Amino acid sequence: MNRNGEPGLILALSKGRIFEDTLPLLEAAGITVLENPETSRKLILPTNDPGVRVLIVRASDVPTYVQHGAADFGVAGRDVLLEHGGEGLYQPIDLRIACCRMSVAVNAGFDYETAVRQGARLRVATKFVNTAREHFASKGVHVDLIKLYGSMELAPLVGLSDAIVDVVSTGGTLRANNLVEVEKIMDISSRLVVNQAALKLKRERLQPILDAFQQASQQQG
Ligand code: ADP
Ligand code: PRP
Ligand code: MG
Repeated sequence: MNRNGEPGLILALSKGRIFEDTLPLLEAAGITVLENPETSRKLILPTNDPGVRVLIVRASDVPTYVQHGAADFGVAGRDVLLEHGGEGLYQPIDLRIACCRMSVAVNAGFDYETAVRQGARLRVATKFVNTAREHFASKGVHVDLIKLYGSMELAPLVGLSDAIVDVVSTGGTLRANNLVEVEKIMDISSRLVVNQAALKLKRERLQPILDAFQQASQQQG
């Protein structure tokens, strides 16, 4: 039984790249999602397996649903998991999907290296305040963190911050906004996260799915 009294398995996913990239892994486990979250307004989607349903939540809310047992398992980026803290979550598999990196970026004209060397206090806008705080503390750089919820690339353009910490993939968004990547903080990919109680109580149902995900994600290379 789940917190909400559900006997079956509940998987939490976010719309967009995580949903799209998880579909082939689900297929490898014999699970087909029967509705498309881009066109359906439903937040609980059925699958071909009556014992498995999919919750559609915000990417940053996936760890919360799984931690509290409202979902048995989910898929979340390393960036999101680091901000959440990971309490109550078992993280058995790096799925190697939604790959990107977390980086520091500044306006093309801003001399980041010199500012850091001279001990300047930097204003840093980001959604990832915990990761950014830890990164700059480990370098001994003093920062004022400005919490944003999206479109970080805008902040240096309008003078809200000197730098941003955001995820970068192709670099296209930075280039389009005349920003340059000056430091990579870490590589990012998405992981399967499992509620710790569900792992014990529903192991028999979960394990074949975890095994299929593990095998399919290794094949993706
Ligand atoms: P959000 O609505 O929170 O931005 P996304 O679907 O864009 O949700 O991102 C989900 C996860 O995908 C992020 O937590 C990150 O790990 C990864 N990600 C974000 N942007 C990119 C990107 N441009 N390319 C590849 N992976 C990305
Ligand atoms: C993400 C991220 C960057 C962009 C980086 O945005 O927040 O803005 O991707 O990718 P790139 O280096 O390939 O340009 P996303 O596409 O998720 O849009 P969002 O603002 O809706 O999160
Ligand atoms: Mg995004």
